[in-house]
Amino acid sequence: NSYPISGNEPVLNYAPRSPEREALRAELTAQKNACRDIPAVVNGQSLYGRTTTPVRAPHDHERVLANLYHGDRETCSAAIDAALAAQREWSNWSLQERSAVFEKAADLLAGPWRARMNAATMLGQSKTCYQAEIDSACELIDFLRLNVQFAHEIAQMQPRHAPGVRNRTEYRPLEGFVYAVTPFNFTAIGGNLAIAPALMGNTVLWKPAATASLSNYLFMELLEAAGLPPGVINFVPGDPVEISNVALNHAALAGVHFTGSTAVFDSMWGEVGRNIARYRAYPRLVGETGGKDFVLAHRSADVDALAVALVRGAFEYQGQKCSAASRAYIPASLWPAVKTRLVAMVKSIKMGDVCDFANFMGAVIDKRAFDRIRSYIYRAREDAQAEVLVGGQCDDRSGYFIEPTVIEVKDARHALMENEIFGPVLAVYVYQDSQWDEVLQLVDGTSAYALTGAVFASERAAIQQAGQALRFAAGNFYINDKPTGAVVGQQPFGGARRSGTNDKAGSALNLLRWVSPRTVKETS
Ligand code: ALA
Repeated sequence: NSYPISGNEPVLNYAPRSPEREALRAELTAQKNACRDIPAVVNGQSLYGRTTTPVRAPHDHERVLANLYHGDRETCSAAIDAALAAQREWSNWSLQERSAVFEKAADLLAGPWRARMNAATMLGQSKTCYQAEIDSACELIDFLRLNVQFAHEIAQMQPRHAPGVRNRTEYRPLEGFVYAVTPFNFTAIGGNLAIAPALMGNTVLWKPAATASLSNYLFMELLEAAGLPPGVINFVPGDPVEISNVALNHAALAGVHFTGSTAVFDSMWGEVGRNIARYRAYPRLVGETGGKDFVLAHRSADVDALAVALVRGAFEYQGQKCSAASRAYIPASLWPAVKTRLVAMVKSIKMGDVCDFANFMGAVIDKRAFDRIRSYIYRAREDAQAEVLVGGQCDDRSGYFIEPTVIEVKDARHALMENEIFGPVLAVYVYQDSQWDEVLQLVDGTSAYALTGAVFASERAAIQQAGQALRFAAGNFYINDKPTGAVVGQQPFGGARRSGTNDKAGSALNLLRWVSPRTVKETS
């Protein structure tokens, strides 16, 4: 590969009085006290629709950070027209020219825009400083830079020649527009779902999650500042059903790039299926959906490492990572030691306003999430098959706060071991050491999802056995580490079964979905 290799963006440490901390503080103050307008951006123009909703800080829900202007059906149609018009020119830019835009965006984000983006992610999505830094700075910079490298690797995948015959593959974009539907929980995922197809020469209709619109709109502004031509990415917040209805019924739909719930992806897939004959080409459907991610400990596991992984895996960003540890299987011989550590660590967790850098957790994203998670905890309190070991308090008076909660279940197939809760709730099942083989079957068969999972063991044979028995139980499988925190280019991310199409964000495999290659044979 002749393209220069760049590494992953280093994580800054925000030590007291460090320049990055001072810059972030100033941005937090400024953004907290400014109420922005967030319009749709279509063909480079800001469009202010008739309907607005307030964007609130989840940890301080009386604070309105922005007014979000909804795009309606007309906005959405205009955005698709703009994308189709822009594609003619954009797809003729060379890969080098397109790459330069995203590399410039990476440089801006690594430098002058870093504090602004992190502050927006902290306030709008209730991320702590560290969680924002690894998301809206490092991971997004990595996507911007490393996708360029993956695209160059793809360009070099070329067929063989034969005597008198020269062959080549041209990596054309898809014909039509790509519809990117993006989640609240990672600013980087939102950005990547829009930029990955765009880098390969596609143009995009981007529907952000309302609850992430503060950071996502800022990223849209950053891309424009980096020189992204109008119409290449069109940003349309609004009612998801209305926007999807326009996008999925359009003959020029070329692909869907989605991260969100399994139920929503199912319904989009169904709508695409019903419309299949009306499209000019078969749309690519790429989705990352739910998870019920496991941590399985063997009796040879290191108890300290396991307890830290459980706490970080389950409770960082309030458990709202699709990769979060949410069901744990612990052998009875280790359970007393694990439980003591787990309960002590969870009790020491500080939760509150994310602008206070001492807090390890902020609030869950909104009232709907708060109610859903709380109902799981309340049901567990009444359930003889479940025991809340620590946490369980829920308080939404000033922000949507839910304590980190560990629940021991007596039944390995309990709903808490099966259902995606998407909050700070870890279910633990304690198994007899002698039942290792049975527990491998349980882990594999309990949930319909297969996103991430981790095994903790020091015996090599146990690691190998788990790796084999759980081959299809996770798309990202971690050995002696937490199941969260995939790094772009290091752990390509995605899962199968009901967790998605496993098209590995953070690798060339994802970008391959956004090209429609043409084979050219030239005979001399
Ligand atoms: N890519 C994110 C992680 O691995 C979801 O935690």
